[in-house]
Amino acid sequence: MIRLLVFASGRGSNARNIFALAKQYPRQIEVVGLVTENPKSGVLQYAKTEQIPIMIVPLPTDVSGSSRRREHEWQILKAIKHLEFDYICLAGYMRILTPEFLAHFPHPNWSVSKIINIHPSLLPSFRGVNAYQQAFRAGVKVAGVSLHFVDAGVDTGSIIHQRTFPRLANDTLESFMQRGLQQEYIAYREVLMALSMGTYTVVDEPFALYIQMAGEE
Ligand code: GRF
Repeated sequence: MIRLLVFASGRGSNARNIFALAKQYPRQIEVVGLVTENPKSGVLQYAKTEQIPIMIVPLPTDVSGSSRRREHEWQILKAIKHLEFDYICLAGYMRILTPEFLAHFPHPNWSVSKIINIHPSLLPSFRGVNAYQQAFRAGVKVAGVSLHFVDAGVDTGSIIHQRTFPRLANDTLESFMQRGLQQEYIAYREVLMALSMGTYTVVDEPFALYIQMAGEE
């Protein structure tokens, strides 16, 4: 059994996918709350329907720059301090977390944070924003999605799992993104099920820590 705290910002379809997984496997996965900075996020309706506690923490308007980021994270820490969870799942959360925030959430067993992110590219290619657009414009033949532990860099943390999909000859950016999104849902489900059931091996090499999931050669 793993308990998850989900962070999302926009449309919320990855968060919705996680809520649906928890509903399907209530003995394996529990969602203890949803954090968003966006009071208009599409995810709020899904969380309400599933009766998941919602913490809306808007960006502070009275400070700017790095103090704004710090203040915002401090407010999030305050809002979630009563919750117990094994992982924070970033699901389309559009803000970069500071090292100070990450330091609050070390993984109990491995040298990573207990924060997981989904990134819509085959890392380490196409880090940062608009990764589908970056990959599509680069003309890749094989694209992918990655789940990784969050570290202080942008999409640089230890890779947990990846899925690939081909770029088809008649793909538009829209159809390419749609197929990628379907892979995101499957990949997130595979990782959460593996973490909850313990069906993985952790390989902690000097150069990288990565997770080998059951069935992976
Ligand atoms: C997804 O493609 C995710 O990988 C990226 O932003 C998008 C969010 O979509 N970080 P949604 O809000 O989960 O629908």
